[in-house]
Amino acid sequence: MDTDIVIIGGGPGGYVCALRAAQLGLKTVLVEEAKVGGTCLNWGCIPTKALFSATRLLSQAADAAEIGLSFAPPSVDLPRLASWKDEVVDTLVGGIDTLLEKNGVSVVRTRGRLQAPGRVALDSGDVVTAKRVVLATGSEPVRIPPFPFDHPAVWSSDDALAMREIPARLAVIGGGVIGLELATIYRRLGSEVTVVELLPEILSTVDLDRRTISTLKRSLKAQGIAVLTGTAAAAIESTEEGTFLTTEDGQRILSDRILVAVGRRPRTHDLGLETCGVNLDDRGFVAVNDRLETSVPGIYAIGDVIGGAMLAHKASAEGVFLAESWVGEPHPLELDGIPQAIFTDPEIASVGSSEAKAKAAGRNVLVGRFPYAVLGKALGMREPDGFFQVVADADDHRILGVQIIGAEASDLISEAAVAVQASLPLEAVADAVHPHPTLPEGLKEAAENALGRAIHTLNR
Ligand code: NAI
Repeated sequence: MDTDIVIIGGGPGGYVCALRAAQLGLKTVLVEEAKVGGTCLNWGCIPTKALFSATRLLSQAADAAEIGLSFAPPSVDLPRLASWKDEVVDTLVGGIDTLLEKNGVSVVRTRGRLQAPGRVALDSGDVVTAKRVVLATGSEPVRIPPFPFDHPAVWSSDDALAMREIPARLAVIGGGVIGLELATIYRRLGSEVTVVELLPEILSTVDLDRRTISTLKRSLKAQGIAVLTGTAAAAIESTEEGTFLTTEDGQRILSDRILVAVGRRPRTHDLGLETCGVNLDDRGFVAVNDRLETSVPGIYAIGDVIGGAMLAHKASAEGVFLAESWVGEPHPLELDGIPQAIFTDPEIASVGSSEAKAKAAGRNVLVGRFPYAVLGKALGMREPDGFFQVVADADDHRILGVQIIGAEASDLISEAAVAVQASLPLEAVADAVHPHPTLPEGLKEAAENALGRAIHTLNR
């Protein structure tokens, strides 16, 4: 088979690159050994968010009596919940399959390996030759030796998302994004949850200000999620009393299941990289230049396999950039403007620099905040926790970064993403009339607060 572009890996990097390349008239082959959609659709973002919103109903119902609404204690039909989550995933995967077909992308359902520059060997025995090859193979959970995923008590994030059981006691190794999102879901389902984090602080790999982290920690405590920081998970101990997770500093946590969520590593093995001389960087990710080309001309890489923020929307942006770069001028790839949303309770979303990072870079900054507690819509939603924070350059008022912790933060960050991406000043957000009563008013008020002209909070 001969084609213009062959892409290995059909996740949000690979399938988006394939669709854009096909739209631009390039003959495109997508090689995917499992279902299209990759980790995000099948074992990551989508199932997590389905379960996040479903279990939110449980937490909302639990204290609804406070506002005069009482329900019988809720019960969880786990097989039904799991199959509903799978239906959401299947609908989206089916949609991507249709889009690929209608755009004329040939999807080859097998494993592919680089054989030589411009040649991909398929497990089926065929070879695809192409002018350009794209590696979009993604990432997989990091394993740590004393906690093998084939141990009956140990879960990977895939096991946790399979929703086969609700453990009475769940220990989570890793207070990062995956650990805390799954801790939130299982706590709402009724598990007793303990998170063990090696570093002195949770979410250390994300650029968040202390105030955001401390707001989340207060909420985790109120939900009954125990967090042990500054200690590594060390071993599993099986006793007559049950299974214990032991930590380096000697704590023993009785656990029915132990979820390992200590990061993800690039999928670079068994891809033929060595055969072709594709270089890895010092952390094991495929090394690329600013045009996303590897050390071998004509071989490109995008998404988790090249590192940086391991986010679906970052991979997709790289896929579009790459496809467009082959037929003319791509629109620029602004990695600084890529937002992140974390589905904890409350949600956290951020874009651009934190206050600490902007100051560390020597910037003179203006900071504005607005609390959810005085936002009419938030109070009506019974969501008073959290705040909006805007950081801007003190000289030209350009918005450098926004952090939101609170209800619907993941949806609210998009306005801020436009502001950061387009280098808008505080006035652009502050002067735009926002509808009342809505949550986005919080961002406008935070921008006004930074300018010293907030209406509903005292100006500093
Ligand atoms: P992570 O890097 O966010 O967190 C892993 C945590 O495990 C770190 O805090 C680390 O210090 C800790 N750790 C490592 N070894 C340990 C040990 N022996 N004992 C205790 N703690 C230990 O990685 P995570 O949560 O696995 O996520 C992987 C990637 O997927 C991240 O890049 C994340 O951004 C991305 N992701 C993003 C989502 C989102 O944006 N909503 C959702 C899920 C994943």
